[in-house]
Amino acid sequence: MAKKAVKQTNGSRVDQFPAPTPAEVAALASCARHGNKPDELLEIFHDLQHQLGYVPDATLPVIAKALNRSRAEIYGVLTFYHEFKRHPVGKHVVKICRAEACQSMGTDALCQHAEKSLGTSLGGTTADGMVTIEQVFCLGNCALSPAIMVGEKLYGKVDPKRFDEIIGGLEKEAAE
Ligand code: FES
Repeated sequence: MAKKAVKQTNGSRVDQFPAPTPAEVAALASCARHGNKPDELLEIFHDLQHQLGYVPDATLPVIAKALNRSRAEIYGVLTFYHEFKRHPVGKHVVKICRAEACQSMGTDALCQHAEKSLGTSLGGTTADGMVTIEQVFCLGNCALSPAIMVGEKLYGKVDPKRFDEIIGGLEKEAAE
């Protein structure tokens, strides 16, 4: 909410604050719900991600002010936890494991297939906003490598064919 100097009809200048954006309002409301307590910062991030799908950078100064912390501190915490998104993501987030067990079972080829078939790279979102693909390092499903996770659902032994079936299921579900 950066202030802006506005010239009056009498030539004087006054500072005006633009109306807060919905994201800024959501950040303020979440901080208030958590008593503006710095030790509830992660909960505030969770709230925003749940509500907006990500934690917009524009909310960081608002949170910093409400919690009486520096912006750098708030930014540092946000970027430390990879679970928090800083940009809008697709309707479905597909996490592909690239840790050792999955590596040994062909996850590189699976990633290449995913990027090619979805037309976006790891970390990106399909043009229709339906799917975001991300790399992660171990989903705790090593015995069934290669593993992927779609939302909260875990899949094992995923080869390119099975990957296409899973994505096809999401598309079908969206069309119904
Ligand atoms: S290494 Fe992929 S699930 Fe553990």
